[in-house]
Amino acid sequence: MDLGLKDKVALVTGGGQGVGRAICRTLAAEGARVVVNDLAPDRAEAVAAEIRAAGGTALAAAADVIDLDAVRAMVAQAEQELGPVDILVNNAGVVPERRTGEIGLPVFAESDPAHWRKFVDLNVYGMLNCCHAVVAGMTARRRGKIITIVSDAGRVGEPRMAVYAAAKAAALGFTKTLAKELGRHRINVNTVALSAVAHEAPMADFLREDATAENNETLAKVLRQYPIGQGLGRLTRPQDAADAVAFMASDRAAYVTGQCLPVNGGFAMV
Ligand SMILES: NC(=O)c1ccc[n+]([C@@H]2O[C@H](COP(=O)([O-])OP(=O)(O)OC[C@H]3O[C@@H](n4cnc5c(N)ncnc54)[C@H](O)[C@@H]3O)[C@@H](O)[C@H]2O)c1
Repeated sequence: MDLGLKDKVALVTGGGQGVGRAICRTLAAEGARVVVNDLAPDRAEAVAAEIRAAGGTALAAAADVIDLDAVRAMVAQAEQELGPVDILVNNAGVVPERRTGEIGLPVFAESDPAHWRKFVDLNVYGMLNCCHAVVAGMTARRRGKIITIVSDAGRVGEPRMAVYAAAKAAALGFTKTLAKELGRHRINVNTVALSAVAHEAPMADFLREDATAENNETLAKVLRQYPIGQGLGRLTRPQDAADAVAFMASDRAAYVTGQCLPVNGGFAMV
């Protein structure tokens, strides 16, 4: 199936590792010209280099998406070097840490207020800044796709992740509103919701991409106490997320807007 992404310009925030890296690589493999944003310049450059080595087109753009001026400068640079941004993927986000098989995070009543702001700053302000920087151009060109990566925590609630859930729920409400405002300009605005994600460089063995309930005891225990990927017996892989984003970014999803596509292995069936 041709997704029609050839030569589209895609800006992916937090593209230097994990889900963002998979999204960058996948969009590039589909022919898109990819702006790999990351706070860490070396990570952005490494992913852009991977794409170029595979024959694709990529620009590394180190910028802090929490800083609106930096975001505007990044979009201007991207447009100058690759062309107008057709696709924005708001992927940069800060996830509560799950370092071990024990969940180990505080419930809201015991959480430290000093830790709340980072979740709102990156997951909400990062998204608002990037959207604001691209929507005028998309509106003028009468085309565009905006996809924000959210979490099931924000859709169905998740104990020990209250502030993160609040930030991701904000993204869901924002997306529906923006979809209604921009629909008449032929701009699609959607979210892709993930549950716990495996990582290419995990901090713990049970977070490895090849870990399953069958081959990893800790993962089996986590899945028993915490029904992520219950039906499918593994965590979300970055590639699962990237495939969903590629679809949402494509003309194959032309009539889909204001929606959330859950890629969660059946964690929440709503
Ligand atoms: N990991 C999970 O279990 C999980 C579950 C559900 C949803 N998600 C969502 O998926 C998305 C990606 O998660 P991940 O696990 O791949 O994250 P990650 O922490 O592995 O990678 C995030 C990337 O974003 C970059 N970044 C951080 N702050 C930034 C900033 N201010 N500006 C630009 N870049 C910045 C980091 O340097 C890093 O390379 C996030 O939105 C997250 O909320 C993740």
